[in-house]
Amino acid sequence: MWRNNPFRIVSERHMDPFKTIPEQLSVLEKALRGPQWDAETLDNLRALMARVDSARLDALRTEHAEAMRTADPASGYKYLDVAYFTLLKLLLARELGLDRGPPRRILDIGTAGGHFPFVCRHFGHDVVAIDVENPLYEGITACLGVQRTIARVEPYRPLPDLGGRFDLITVCNTTFNERGDPPVYWTPAEWQFLLDDLVANHLRYPGELYVKLNKEIKRLAYNRDVLAMANRNAAKVGRWRGVIRMNVAAPRVIRL
Ligand SMILES: C[S@@+](CC[C@H](N)C(=O)[O-])C[C@H]1O[C@@H](n2cnc3c(N)ncnc32)[C@H](O)[C@@H]1O
Repeated sequence: MWRNNPFRIVSERHMDPFKTIPEQLSVLEKALRGPQWDAETLDNLRALMARVDSARLDALRTEHAEAMRTADPASGYKYLDVAYFTLLKLLLARELGLDRGPPRRILDIGTAGGHFPFVCRHFGHDVVAIDVENPLYEGITACLGVQRTIARVEPYRPLPDLGGRFDLITVCNTTFNERGDPPVYWTPAEWQFLLDDLVANHLRYPGELYVKLNKEIKRLAYNRDVLAMANRNAAKVGRWRGVIRMNVAAPRVIRL
């Protein structure tokens, strides 16, 4: 058990996509110094940062510098803070027990810059990372040596075969479930279709599904109806973080 929850210690104020990798790492090392911090996670972060193609990342940052200056801080440029997002995914890997145990086959849906597959590979797992086309995210994944597979998630459309089944499927902070401006969000029925497709056609048994919802802009909250649907299907639901965890031992139907 962590003495202090690192998810509470690290926050967006530690994020700065304009900084280089050594500068980003130094910000995090200072923030996390002290007896409460887990030295192993910090060692893993340092080892991972040593593997980033930082010259290529610096070039990517320079290429986008002008657009970044006027962009919303929440926009995709934030993923250029590779150290910060890798740390968040190290914490997720730990939450999911991926930092120990046997190698697993993982599907990461909506991977953006590929920080999660980058971490999973470090722990010996095999990851298929899917997303839609995006030159910035493609640039970041190239710096991490991660491969991105283009596959678009659409409402009521099953995903294609991605080369076999997975032990773990992650769906974190995705935006495929938002349409329009201001956005309209997926209904519980649309989520139920996706979860049912994942369990029926893409998950191994036993396997695990991990979904972390994005907050809905208008309500500034996670969609309670989606969380309730997951709860009715025997998922563990973390209402405060918008997390759905479903352990699936055998084929089963996900119902509305
Ligand atoms: C906010 S980012 C989350 C990135 C990452 N999963 C994380 O936890 O940091 C949302 C991701 O969803 C992806 N996305 C948006 N629409 C999509 C779609 N229709 N199919 C697949 N991915 C999509 C975006 O390209 C982006 O990578």
